[in-house]
Amino acid sequence: MKNRLIVALLLLWLCTGAHCAPPGSDTFNLDGVDFYQLFNDPEGHLKLNPRLKTDDRIRAHGYPAELHHVPTEDGYIIGLFRIPYSHKLQNQQTNRPIVLMQHGISGSSDNWISMGPDNALAFQLVDAGYDVWIGNARGNTYSRNHTWLSTQHPYFWRFSWHEIGYFDIAAMIDYALKANGQGQEAIHYVGHSQGTTVFLALMSTRPEYNAKIKTSQLLAPVAYMNNMGSLLAKATGPYLGHRTVYALMLESQEFLPYNDFLLAFLYNTCGPDSRFLNYCKQLHNISNKGRANSTATAINAVTTPAGVSTNQFLHYLQEQQSGHFRLYDFGAKKNLIAYNAEVPPDYPTNLINCETHLWYADNDEMAAVEDVRRLAEALPNKVMHHMEDPLWNHGDFATNWEVRKYINDPIIQIMNEFEDALQN
Ligand SMILES: *[C@@H]1O[C@H](CO)[C@@H](O)[C@H](O)[C@H]1NC(C)=O
Ligand SMILES: *[C@@H]1O[C@H](CO)[C@@H](O)[C@H](O)[C@H]1NC(C)=O
Ligand SMILES: *[C@@H]1O[C@H](CO)[C@@H](O)[C@H](O)[C@H]1NC(C)=O
Repeated sequence: MKNRLIVALLLLWLCTGAHCAPPGSDTFNLDGVDFYQLFNDPEGHLKLNPRLKTDDRIRAHGYPAELHHVPTEDGYIIGLFRIPYSHKLQNQQTNRPIVLMQHGISGSSDNWISMGPDNALAFQLVDAGYDVWIGNARGNTYSRNHTWLSTQHPYFWRFSWHEIGYFDIAAMIDYALKANGQGQEAIHYVGHSQGTTVFLALMSTRPEYNAKIKTSQLLAPVAYMNNMGSLLAKATGPYLGHRTVYALMLESQEFLPYNDFLLAFLYNTCGPDSRFLNYCKQLHNISNKGRANSTATAINAVTTPAGVSTNQFLHYLQEQQSGHFRLYDFGAKKNLIAYNAEVPPDYPTNLINCETHLWYADNDEMAAVEDVRRLAEALPNKVMHHMEDPLWNHGDFATNWEVRKYINDPIIQIMNEFEDALQN
């Protein structure tokens, strides 16, 4: 049973990435890949290229890049990337408003730059004059670091997305404000999927952080989940969304342990100069029905198993089962100690009074329209952006080839208008 649940979680993870949707009945065209010949070719395997990191990928496009190690109050050390200015504008001396971008579950900072300088929001923002910071959640490839715990230690993995919001995002905001050095008191925030959940958790439990937000752009916001369309979540929720023996077995572990060999293997089979690249691209193109930029999905696929605690999934499945947006359920006894109540408290979303833009779509299998509207009802200062493309799904917010037109340009316009109003 445990193995079956692990497989189910694995599928759930696959379906939360940009490479969702099961492949259709189309047959793969394997032209140009002769597996038998490859098998006999010693050069064909084990010629592993070193993996590129986010800052390498940014520099490869000509932009300056920095990596900062940001400590959190509870001892984790976050890898925070920065594109401080645009080499095209040479604007290092002028005022550059801060933007912080946060990825979805099992993703990383690489997801925000995979579309390249013409289409990725991170590069577009830098070229519009912003100081861009790209975050990483604790436990992922770039945030496997702690002041006193090793990642091998079981306690390292005792966190869900609550802690990512409460500690990591708070630390990143404060760090960026200080390091920018231009006396700014607030930032713009952009999150996708789990990157929205962690924002809502932080802003409702530490409401003083609302004053540090100019605008927040929540893409495919996930808080309430009981109308979610994902069949897999519906199938596993009854087992894993409660304090069952199955949930207890899976709790507080690293999900899909980070493995250098696995990542190097993926990178070398689907990475930019691999002989399998066309095959990988075709596979992705079929699985997303031709709607996504295949270069971007290939980069996301090779960087995506980025390190997650099982509790992040369990916490989501608890929400899907309970219909609440509330703190992690440790079971009645531990809840009494943690929350002074047998049932975890709801997040007080009415306290999120910063300017919040909700970007949502009809065909989103994770953030259902009813659930987004329910979240919006409680938010005092929101703006709704309903996607006009009826086929737009959860992953499209990250990799659809029209993301510039539908998402990036409008977001930059909103931020620019906010900044213009500050000047006057
Ligand atoms: C961990 O954090 C320390 C302290 O900031 C830093 O010096 C070190 O390079 C980090 N290690 C990794 C693997 O990121
Ligand atoms: C897809 O992304 C790559 C960069 O990763 C870019 O060069 C290319 O123009 C994009 N294609 C489309 C159709 O947007
Ligand atoms: C991707 O899929 C679409 C529709 O399924 C097809 O029209 C297009 O030619 C495919 N592109 C590639 C590069 O295979």
